[in-house]
Amino acid sequence: MKSTFFVAVLAAAFAGNVWAQCPDYTTYAQTAQGNPSNGPLGLPYMRPSPECRTFNSTSVEKVITDMKARLKDPDLARLFENTFPNTLDTTVKYFNATENLAFIITGDITAQWLRDTANQFAHYFALLPSDPALATLVKAVINNEARYVSEYPYCGAFQPPPESGLAPSVNGAAVGVTVNPPVNNQTVFECKYEIDSLCGFLKLSRSYYNVTKDASFMDAQWYSAIDQIFRVINEQSQGSWDADFNFISYYNWTGNGQQSPTVDNGGNGEPKAYTGMVGTHHRPSDDISVFAFLTPANAMLSVELAHLSDILVASGQTKTSQGKNISEQATSWSKSVSAAVWAKTLVDNVFAYETNGFGGRYVMDDANVPSLLSLPFLGFLDKNDPAYVATRKVLLGRGNPYYAAGLNFSGVGGPHVDAWNPWPMSQISAIYGTDDDDEILQSLYLIANNTAGLGLIHESQSIYSEADYTRPWFAWANSYFAEMLLDLAQRKPALIFNSSKPYTPGQ
Ligand SMILES: *[C@@H]1O[C@H](CO)[C@@H](O)[C@H](O)[C@H]1NC(C)=O
Ligand SMILES: *[C@@H]1O[C@H](CO)[C@@H](O)[C@H](O)[C@H]1NC(C)=O
Ligand SMILES: *[C@@H]1O[C@H](CO)[C@@H](O)[C@H](O)[C@H]1NC(C)=O
Ligand SMILES: *[C@@H]1O[C@H](CO)[C@@H](O)[C@H](O)[C@H]1NC(C)=O
Ligand SMILES: *[C@@H]1O[C@H](CO)[C@@H](O)[C@H](O)[C@H]1NC(C)=O
Ligand SMILES: *[C@@H]1O[C@H](CO)[C@@H](O)[C@H](O)[C@H]1NC(C)=O
Ligand SMILES: *[C@@H]1O[C@H](CO)[C@@H](O)[C@H](O)[C@H]1NC(C)=O
Ligand SMILES: *[C@@H]1O[C@H](CO)[C@@H](O)[C@H](O)[C@H]1NC(C)=O
Ligand SMILES: *[C@@H]1O[C@H](CO)[C@@H](O)[C@H](O)[C@H]1NC(C)=O
Repeated sequence: MKSTFFVAVLAAAFAGNVWAQCPDYTTYAQTAQGNPSNGPLGLPYMRPSPECRTFNSTSVEKVITDMKARLKDPDLARLFENTFPNTLDTTVKYFNATENLAFIITGDITAQWLRDTANQFAHYFALLPSDPALATLVKAVINNEARYVSEYPYCGAFQPPPESGLAPSVNGAAVGVTVNPPVNNQTVFECKYEIDSLCGFLKLSRSYYNVTKDASFMDAQWYSAIDQIFRVINEQSQGSWDADFNFISYYNWTGNGQQSPTVDNGGNGEPKAYTGMVGTHHRPSDDISVFAFLTPANAMLSVELAHLSDILVASGQTKTSQGKNISEQATSWSKSVSAAVWAKTLVDNVFAYETNGFGGRYVMDDANVPSLLSLPFLGFLDKNDPAYVATRKVLLGRGNPYYAAGLNFSGVGGPHVDAWNPWPMSQISAIYGTDDDDEILQSLYLIANNTAGLGLIHESQSIYSEADYTRPWFAWANSYFAEMLLDLAQRKPALIFNSSKPYTPGQ
């Protein structure tokens, strides 16, 4: 979200909750707060004071202590200390274990995004077996999302549950937008259809099951959400034209040209032809798609559907005909979507970001995950796969229209902010995609050197001016950074620690 007007309007919605006396973190995060770290960057301590934190966890505090004792660079230690707890420190707007409901905001906007939450919790999963309170919180997030998805599977960002007593926020970017199927703005914050949002819900579900072996979240509402996901998959894999040239549309969205663009063809965008992939309407950036078949989102869908089948089998759900049916559908779609990604998007070993099934392909990348650069992180292919190696070379250079390099910062951005504001998140994805020590360190320090001296990970950073960055409070970016450092702690300990002994949280 780029509009500062928008942020200011929403900040007002905070008043009246239990943390009303605490400073607004969007403002707090724009000024250096606590003591600087001992390294050359002197990064400030940016955690909110204990009474203003939105969830406490001793297991999270232990990981911070453990990592600080090992990280050889005090600036990286400070970045970890600020970013690892950011989701729990600042975004748990509501949690009631009895109701099994939690409302998790993205940061500076008071709404819950399905995609963001899957990433906001990804770095905590290893702790769940030893931290029952944290596990209960994640289960409550899944349950709240099952409610959203079962009712509005085409939407990606939501309002607080009514039980919370929190008021819904008015989204300036949704005012005047026409969307079909229609939505209720008391439940839906924004109804942009992005297939990866549904993948986020699936990822949260399987990650929780994987570490807890608790299948109690697979209740009627969760199954209803899964059914709706397959409805969307079936609807959005169809081409735009039927045999008689009727135009097929299950979902359409068009703005009023003010904060949201008008969309051609009655809000459908560019026509698509059948490919075996599932179309999407907006990108993970919430920007309108150029072509419907987003390669990285289909890659993620294929991976998550395979995991969905696995957890249904592992939890014994396939003993029922409902569970068996879903598991079989998931396996079948996972295979066919993956086959289509390889067959329809790769030319000369380079993946297109988007295709339309008519031969149209757009070679580029956008920083938001799922991106092409993040294919290894998503679990779709190995980082040494020749197709990834060749695609990565294009993405991290002038062959990608959204790659930009300046004096201090470089990386992949996207049109969401603008072409000259690359995102730190792209450098995190790049780290997941290589085993080369020099490349890893280069990306790591591009990120660390470019926090505008604030010690938090921002949405984007201008290549022209250090002071020009977006989103001071962006929990997903903070979480993704911490997740990446924990990955290096196991994969490349000698690069970041004083010793070569790997570190695994929760052990
Ligand atoms: C977290 O702990 C602090 C005391 O250290 C307390 O003031 C605060 O209310 C706690 N937060 C929550 C959400 O329980
Ligand atoms: C790591 O080693 C450096 C240099 O040997 C030393 O200055 C630093 O204090 C050590 N850091 C930790 C966390 O042990
Ligand atoms: C949680 O929800 C239950 C059921 O609505 C309610 O009785 C209880 O007071 C709530 N707990 C808190 C801490 O708000
Ligand atoms: C919902 O829509 C109505 C009618 O357009 C508008 O008056 C109201 O402010 C909106 N509420 C929210 C929370 O967006
Ligand atoms: C928009 O989608 C609805 C279904 O949600 C459909 O009935 C309608 O025909 C579509 N309109 C256009 C212009 O495609
Ligand atoms: C399950 O958890 C283990 C250990 O944390 C992790 O290595 C693995 O990737 C996870 N698998 C899935 C499918 O989430
Ligand atoms: C699952 O059930 C639906 C109807 O409920 C049916 O159309 C479909 O063929 C079944 N799929 C499998 C793989 O059993
Ligand atoms: C980060 O900044 C330091 C100076 O503080 C500089 O030596 C280093 O080259 C920079 N690293 C990158 C990747 O820009
Ligand atoms: C690059 O970093 C230096 C040192 O922090 C700073 O003085 C300069 O303004 C930065 N340049 C840009 C274009 O951000």
